[in-house]
Amino acid sequence: MRKTREEYAARFSAKAADYDDASPEYLACCDLVVDHAAPGPDDVVLDLGTGTGAIALALAPHAKRVVSRDISEGMLDRAREKARERGIDNVEFGDGAFRAPAFEEPVDVVTSNFALHHLSDDEKREAVETIAALGPRRFVLGDVMFFGEPDPDEPFYSPEVDDPATVGTLADVFTDCGFALTAVERVHDQVGVLVGERARAREDGRT
Ligand SMILES: C[S@@+](CC[C@H](N)C(=O)[O-])C[C@H]1O[C@@H](n2cnc3c(N)ncnc32)[C@H](O)[C@@H]1O
Repeated sequence: MRKTREEYAARFSAKAADYDDASPEYLACCDLVVDHAAPGPDDVVLDLGTGTGAIALALAPHAKRVVSRDISEGMLDRAREKARERGIDNVEFGDGAFRAPAFEEPVDVVTSNFALHHLSDDEKREAVETIAALGPRRFVLGDVMFFGEPDPDEPFYSPEVDDPATVGTLADVFTDCGFALTAVERVHDQVGVLVGERARAREDGRT
């Protein structure tokens, strides 16, 4: 059975100190998310499910500002510590969830890596709707996702804690929320990166 938000937060806080030991597929996914996000020096980036900051800290030197949100205080504390160690001062770490990111300013690029699969498919749709409402020109999602049949005996998918979607379901959600799918990267049969782009239609008139 899937866990509650509070259970996920506690589970990740307990793992925060050791979290950065990672598989080659996870690292490949991080690299792809960072490469596809490609923020410019004036861009505001929102990283959801930021964890210990793998994506946020990699993007920070290239962006104006990175806003990092997570539900786990333990993961956020470790991320803040890493930012201090690296002398990075343009990342704002704070409590926030996919469907309530606690950030309502315009953003240019939204990223999320290895986190959205904790939500049900209906919740994922609400999360992408929330992201779309912030007006980013690009949304880059790295995550556990099914390119073939779900296989709990293969890595990355534990039905007791994960609820990944198929790539087809995610593609529908992206396009329904106004993102054209411009890249699909298969890292493993159960891990991939999707890139959604759209013309900006915000009131500030930027394109
Ligand atoms: C596997 S970690 C990935 C962290 C980071 N993005 C990375 O690539 O290393 C998943 C993170 O998602 C967070 N998370 C889980 N459910 C969430 C939600 N509903 N909203 C925001 N973050 C969530 C967890 O607290 C955890 O830090």
